[in-house]
Amino acid sequence: MATAKSVTKKFGILTAGGDCPGLNAAIRGVCRTAHDRYGMEIVGIANGFRGLIDEDVRILKPEDFTGILTRGGTILGSSREKPFTPTSDKDDDVTDKVSAIKDTYAKLGLDCLVVLGGNGTNTTGYKLSREGLNVIGLPKTIDNDIFGTDKTFGFDSALTIGTEAIDRLHSTAQSHSRIIVIELMGHKAGWLALYAGLAGGGDVILLPEFPYDIRVISRHLEKRAKSGRMFSIVVAAEGAISVKESEMDKKDRKKFRAENGPSVAYRVAQKINEDTGMETRATVLGYVQRGGIPSASDRILATSLGTAAAELLAKGQYGRMVALQGDAIGSVDLSIPEGKVKNVPNDHYMIDTAKAVGTCMGFE
Ligand code: F6P
Repeated sequence: MATAKSVTKKFGILTAGGDCPGLNAAIRGVCRTAHDRYGMEIVGIANGFRGLIDEDVRILKPEDFTGILTRGGTILGSSREKPFTPTSDKDDDVTDKVSAIKDTYAKLGLDCLVVLGGNGTNTTGYKLSREGLNVIGLPKTIDNDIFGTDKTFGFDSALTIGTEAIDRLHSTAQSHSRIIVIELMGHKAGWLALYAGLAGGGDVILLPEFPYDIRVISRHLEKRAKSGRMFSIVVAAEGAISVKESEMDKKDRKKFRAENGPSVAYRVAQKINEDTGMETRATVLGYVQRGGIPSASDRILATSLGTAAAELLAKGQYGRMVALQGDAIGSVDLSIPEGKVKNVPNDHYMIDTAKAVGTCMGFE
């Protein structure tokens, strides 16, 4: 088969960090374009950066990236290995891991490394590029918190799951005249809770970005009850934090949390119950949000970002992260997402939208 000219002849591909729906669609997008259009050779690296350290790799053939568009998870496996973060007091292991990665890269004769991941993965990618490796990043995460792209793939699928969960909680909360607190993922950024909370009609939405005041929440729920709405749904991002906790140092906060429930949903539910006397339950949605088939929108975004990454490979445009920019696919310098988290700004239009339809955001 005649193939178009390509600067990159052979590249490695890995998925790192928490998995999400759409990873396989992205892998397929990169590999099909790179292989079928440009005849590149592809090395699949197992379990994120761990596979580069341990040289756990295999050549990917077309049959490996066929029939995977709709599959959840990642055919390559993933890990939270962060080679630039010391695991002990000594920095020796960082030096060892980074040189192992560089050795594997050289030994395999790679022209570039394609990394699919979140903030941590793209930051590691950038650091490796500063070590002399050619790297291209793809932004994935259900948290949607990567700088440089308007959206990450995985987010839309998780949003669908979160919204359906809130819908389902409505009927049971109504039947029992209960308050139900649902906890969605999002340690540092509250995009998922904000979007699902708004889509599911949550009565209260709590985000990590804005410390909540339990009295404001309780007053809101009491007002609803007085007006005849005897049930309510509280949507909390897992990283949501109370004003009281935000004023504590790390040690005191850890102690407080250990004494007041395993996670934010339990702490908030307990406080609401103490404050209002209303029957309150907690539900933690957990890893369900990351599992299963990608939504149609994620399949399209992941495929488009994947094919765009292959085009960068062909042109030899390394040190970039492909990105959604408005209605177009482009790319940004890999330094853009480095060490950052894209948080919900307090002037985001959705905060006002939520308030306008009577949703309490946990603060006045
Ligand atoms: O993928 C990001 C994320 O979903 C966060 O929202 C969550 O805090 C984290 O992963 C938990 O994942 P793990 O237990 O795999 O580290």
